[in-house]
Amino acid sequence: MKKNTKLIAATIVAMGLLTSPVVSAKEIVIKFSHVTTEATPKGKGAMLFKKLVDERLAGKVRVEVYPSSQLYGDKAVLKALLLGDVQLAAPSLSKFSKYTKKWALFDLPFLFKNPQALNCFTDSPKGQALLGAAERKGIKGLGYWLNGMKQISANTPLIVPEDAKGLKFRIMSSDVLKAQFEAVDANPQKMAFSEVYNALATGVIDGQENTWSNIRSKKFFEVQKDTTISNHGVLEYALVTNKRFWNSLPTDIRMQLDQIIKEVTTEVTQFALDAAVKDMKTVADSGKTNIHTLTASQKQQWVTAMKPVWSQFEDQVGKDNIAAVQQCNAQN
Ligand code: LMR
Repeated sequence: MKKNTKLIAATIVAMGLLTSPVVSAKEIVIKFSHVTTEATPKGKGAMLFKKLVDERLAGKVRVEVYPSSQLYGDKAVLKALLLGDVQLAAPSLSKFSKYTKKWALFDLPFLFKNPQALNCFTDSPKGQALLGAAERKGIKGLGYWLNGMKQISANTPLIVPEDAKGLKFRIMSSDVLKAQFEAVDANPQKMAFSEVYNALATGVIDGQENTWSNIRSKKFFEVQKDTTISNHGVLEYALVTNKRFWNSLPTDIRMQLDQIIKEVTTEVTQFALDAAVKDMKTVADSGKTNIHTLTASQKQQWVTAMKPVWSQFEDQVGKDNIAAVQQCNAQN
């Protein structure tokens, strides 16, 4: 009897030793690295993704979110994704030029009329087909996440294109954005997001373009005397993963993650639309930057100056895609 009890106990211990490491080794860890704060549409989207995975896939999948460039900055994150050091990222579509030239479409100045037209395009068959543009390089697009319309700022009022002449503007790493600022005789400088505040504060650059949520959360408005409501471009993210990693997931888990991403994407759209209104108000109420509204004719001058950039890139991004956006503009 005593012997039996010992045997049973030994078996239980052995089973425990055998099973527990195996169970925990099977838990899939998804590291999600991004560059904005948690209080932004992307930051909230990442946290919501984690929450839903915790609720629905506890013990099977664990999500770790690293905001504010804590783990990787702009350039490094996509390399890390391909190396398997992170599994999810959501960089701006402007930051993928090494992996696809097609996503430059989203940078064309004055292409998208408003966030609704942008959503219309990303939901369309052409937009969905475009989401796969980086797959040949091993980067799988899982969804588009909205941020919103970009505004332009400096330490001088930017009312007509001549006002930007000779000023140094920080841009994301996009040749379209470079051409956009060169079209108004400004001096574009590619720079990581995490460096922008200091560069503005110390005068390394004179101005920048970004959405209200980034202007607020990164406090750019505190170091820019003038901000123009220009709505001249969009900031849209691609939620991306490593294609090999994604395909290696068990089908049921992948399907559940796909479903969660679908739900989170819808919420991110709402976070972004809300942030555009609330963050603009916070910035305006701060009194730290003068907000300028353009007249129709002033706005038209920016359009006239910047729109020729389209012809430089239309073959690269696809005339058919531009036409599809224009259809969405007409409907929104
Ligand atoms: C930027 O670099 O300005 C943005 O892409 C940052 C972000 O992720 O919103």
